[in-house]
Amino acid sequence: MKIVIITGGSRGLGRSAALQCASRGMGVVLTYNSHPAGAEAAVAEIEKAGGKAAALALDVGKSASFSVFRDQVTETLGRVWGRKNFDYLVNNAGYGLFEPITTVSEAQFDGLFNVHLKGPFFLTQTLLPLMADGGAILNLTSATTRVATAGVAPYASFKGGLEVLTRYMAKEFGERGIRANSIAPGAIRTELGGGLNDEFEAMLSAQTALGRVGEPDDVGRVVASLLSEESAWINAQNVEVGGGYII
Ligand SMILES: NC(=O)c1ccc[n+]([C@@H]2O[C@H](COP(=O)([O-])OP(=O)(O)OC[C@H]3O[C@@H](n4cnc5c(N)ncnc54)[C@H](OP(=O)(O)O)[C@@H]3O)[C@@H](O)[C@H]2O)c1
Repeated sequence: MKIVIITGGSRGLGRSAALQCASRGMGVVLTYNSHPAGAEAAVAEIEKAGGKAAALALDVGKSASFSVFRDQVTETLGRVWGRKNFDYLVNNAGYGLFEPITTVSEAQFDGLFNVHLKGPFFLTQTLLPLMADGGAILNLTSATTRVATAGVAPYASFKGGLEVLTRYMAKEFGERGIRANSIAPGAIRTELGGGLNDEFEAMLSAQTALGRVGEPDDVGRVVASLLSEESAWINAQNVEVGGGYII
């Protein structure tokens, strides 16, 4: 059984990815930050369907906590799966902020940087010794790296950095057979940045070739499929999953 660690699995895209990976037979370690109940509910849903999962607390913005998290992952892998290592890492956790460049504070900038670029960098570094050769890393970036969207400059800049980092991960981890790709969602119906209202959704749908916003499973399915052996020759790519967003 392959085992995947998904950050931010308590809701949204991470939760969908956890359920989709479990439905394809993977064991899932999902993390939560402020919503333990959401994470426990996802674990319960996976177990009800006959799968195996565990939830751990993690603040991706606090890299000083990563070595303790690694110890918890080691304990969990041994207790739940009788294993010392895992196969896949999905750096998904994140949050949005709408603020023009002219008024973004240094604290807002640093917060986004810590969660969207520094966190995935050092979490991957910390967990890599526990990842099996032949594994895979998937980083969640954003279509805002391609389409400039006023109000999300720091977020999009760090996602752009994560997209570049993905290629460097592929370069440096390839000798262990570890692939690294990123997924750039278009507009997906989650609670990110406060979620969608009717007017915002209508605008985003009109900007999407397939005429609607995405649902979490539109992305969760692609996460599971890019991790799977069928995608074994896809490496160092950024895959936009947005139904044709602003083309
Ligand atoms: N939805 C979209 O349209 C869209 C588009 C492009 C990119 N993305 C990216 O996709 C990823 C998932 O977003 P989503 O739409 O699923 O958002 P969401 O519904 O708001 O869920 C965010 C998830 O990230 C976790 N999280 C937030 N801050 C965290 C932190 N500091 N440390 C650890 N976990 C943290 C949350 O955990 P708790 O609930 O436990 O706090 C939650 O599980 C993000 O990286 C986002 O930037 C989303």
